[in-house]
Amino acid sequence: MNILIIGGAGYIGGVTAHMAVEAGHAVTVFDNLSTGRDYNVPKDAELVVGDVQNRDTVAHLFKKRRFDVVMHFAARILVPESVKNPYDYFYTNTFGALTAIDTALQFGVERYIFSSSAATYGEPHSTPLTESSPTAPVNPYGWSKLLAEQILQSYQQSHSLQWAAFRYFNVAGAYAGVGTDYPFVSHIIPSLLASMKQKEPIMIAGDDYDTQDGTCIRDYVHVADIAKAHVAAAEQMARGKVLNQPINLSSGTGYSVKQVADTFNEVTHADLPIKFGPRRAGDPAKLFASHDRATQLLGWRPNLHLRQIITDHYNWYKAQDNPNRPV
Ligand code: UFG
Repeated sequence: MNILIIGGAGYIGGVTAHMAVEAGHAVTVFDNLSTGRDYNVPKDAELVVGDVQNRDTVAHLFKKRRFDVVMHFAARILVPESVKNPYDYFYTNTFGALTAIDTALQFGVERYIFSSSAATYGEPHSTPLTESSPTAPVNPYGWSKLLAEQILQSYQQSHSLQWAAFRYFNVAGAYAGVGTDYPFVSHIIPSLLASMKQKEPIMIAGDDYDTQDGTCIRDYVHVADIAKAHVAAAEQMARGKVLNQPINLSSGTGYSVKQVADTFNEVTHADLPIKFGPRRAGDPAKLFASHDRATQLLGWRPNLHLRQIITDHYNWYKAQDNPNRPV
């Protein structure tokens, strides 16, 4: 297949680009390199630099090559930043999706795989979440993704668009030399690496949640497993499989932040002391979800679990010698 990967120079998009090339597909990456890096793009893929919100640039891309499917990763992803600057989030994530979806259809490309988020659920009423759980985002980031899902659904009705929106949970790990090469230090694993580098204790935000050890429960999925789901979806859609719905990419199992910190200490032998600070605003106690729909539709289930996720993330981090690394 000819696959267009919008945002394919970033973390999850970059890993997916590598996996798509390894699976024998021809990949074109479109990315404005604002947070993406050209070195994340596989050498056998073509990189086109441009903004997804710019209709002329996007149209030019579709004029040049006939794509079988679009995968859309390009997004802003920092929740607190979205609260400060909603405009940037709706412009990049929602208007960017609208522009690319509409342009793809204008050029007859009818298959679209979109990166959505657990943030579409907001504060869960019960766990594990399923795709039928209520969606009630609690920040502009979550809204920007939910609106994009609704745009996909609307174009399905009006223009026969075939689509899938993958709702990611806590993605970590690395693959093919591509890792979180961006200052995501608010996220737990990059934050643990930052503590290690600075020889500081691990700071866990809150130990008084209603969970087994008082720390928040999250659902960690390896970036390689996430990428695999995208390639599987593209291949199945090309064979005529109808998806046309949001699909959780989750492990179904939650780990507490304390378990993550302990596993990090074991894997890295960093032996950092753990301190407990105040809760972080807006953190739900438990966020984990069933992947039954992904299994049923795509035969997908995650293969790589917490220890492997942390090991791969750590090994990638150690191998970095560029000045832009996360810490
Ligand atoms: N945490 C700490 N200490 C740190 C960093 C994080 O205790 O130094 C805790 C957080 O309080 C939270 C957990 O680790 O309980 C995970 O936090 P992350 O920031 O790594 O991830 P979130 O669960 O907040 O965010 C994830 C995705 C976002 C998505 C969000 C909402 O990374 O992209 O879920 O669905 F928007």
